[in-house]
Amino acid sequence: MKIGIPKETFAKETRVAAVPETVAKIVKEGMEVVIESDAGLLSYISNNEYEKAGAQIAPNAEYIFKEADVIFKVNRPQLNEQKLSPEIEWMKENTIFVAPFYAVQNLDLISLLAKKKIIAFSMELLPRIARAQNMDILSSMSNLAGYKSVVMAAEHLGKIFPMLTTAAGTIQPTKIIIIGAGVAGLQAIATARRLGSLVIAFDTRPAAGEQVKSLGAEFVSMEVSHEASEDQGGYAKEQSKEFYQKEQDIIHKYSPDADVIITTALIPGKKAPILITEAMVKEMKPGSVIVDLSVDQGGNCELSEPGKIVVKYGVTLIGVQNLPATLPSNASQLYSRNLFAFFKYIAPMLKEGKLDFEDEIIKGCLVTYNGEVVHPLLKH
Ligand code: NAI
Repeated sequence: MKIGIPKETFAKETRVAAVPETVAKIVKEGMEVVIESDAGLLSYISNNEYEKAGAQIAPNAEYIFKEADVIFKVNRPQLNEQKLSPEIEWMKENTIFVAPFYAVQNLDLISLLAKKKIIAFSMELLPRIARAQNMDILSSMSNLAGYKSVVMAAEHLGKIFPMLTTAAGTIQPTKIIIIGAGVAGLQAIATARRLGSLVIAFDTRPAAGEQVKSLGAEFVSMEVSHEASEDQGGYAKEQSKEFYQKEQDIIHKYSPDADVIITTALIPGKKAPILITEAMVKEMKPGSVIVDLSVDQGGNCELSEPGKIVVKYGVTLIGVQNLPATLPSNASQLYSRNLFAFFKYIAPMLKEGKLDFEDEIIKGCLVTYNGEVVHPLLKH
């Protein structure tokens, strides 16, 4: 079996779907790896290192898509104006394609994959269950984004984070609000605490409270019951307009005193709730910073702009996208380990020629098979 790793083509992408460590592991499993020339360059990995790990270097993406039995990618194929993708056209039938397709939002792409009889696994749909934790790209990337959000805030804030006792007197620690205490939020809390700041965190899920407190931060509860706050997968449920209004009011009690606000609040498949309004930004201290990690889903702050760092009412609003790509070494390493763990799990089934469609992991992320769109979320 030949595993193909094309170079990523999305703007500002630096990651690659396999690193020498995972290439060596795939080769050890008795499979071949073919990687596009310079695919690892932006993650500081040379062709030579891949060759040493046992990969073959291919001259271009076309070669890989045509030759490989399995493709690993960091980003989905982009469709052209005719809603076609050369990458998909190059692939042979029954190629296995593992990538985050963001299937629910990209139905055109999914039907192209089905038409071409590709066996596509959309990795953002992987179930968040204990035995799939080492395959979970969302957690890996959120962890890095949470860390980097704090580092970016620190860079843009004209203050240090910790309390400092000096001969010239004491400097008070920075106050940080983190909204959303999922994977990214918890890592942001841990990072901000390590830098010495005081942290207050908000989440609609009461279950997040214990985790927040264990990191030494204060938790502000929204007083929602467990059942009303999260679904069976552990994701936050969407709340009413009135609820979000009430939540804004609660956050507003704390925001004028904050130096930094980091927002990570998301509802899967929905627009991110607005939790910081223009009026709230106006009342923040001049020089304070907001990092909006939800900017790709519409943003938690009314004023943040995707892909931009802007200053409004004296507050720096950071709407940087794809933060994991700013940490390519770690991001490629974790991402490729996740994909390898997933592939190692399905490889025995592939060798026997039968995928177990009842398996929770397969069922959770298989989106196209045998010419059809098979995922329940995509069938209407
Ligand atoms: P996410 O990225 O979808 O959302 C981020 C956070 O925002 C969540 O904690 C959510 O509750 C919170 N949020 C949503 N609306 C909010 C609001 N209005 N105000 C404040 N906070 C709000 O979530 P993520 O980080 O992907 O985690 C989702 C769930 O999955 C969590 O319960 C987590 O523990 C669980 N999980 C399980 C894993 C496993 O067992 N394999 C791995 C990773 C996460």
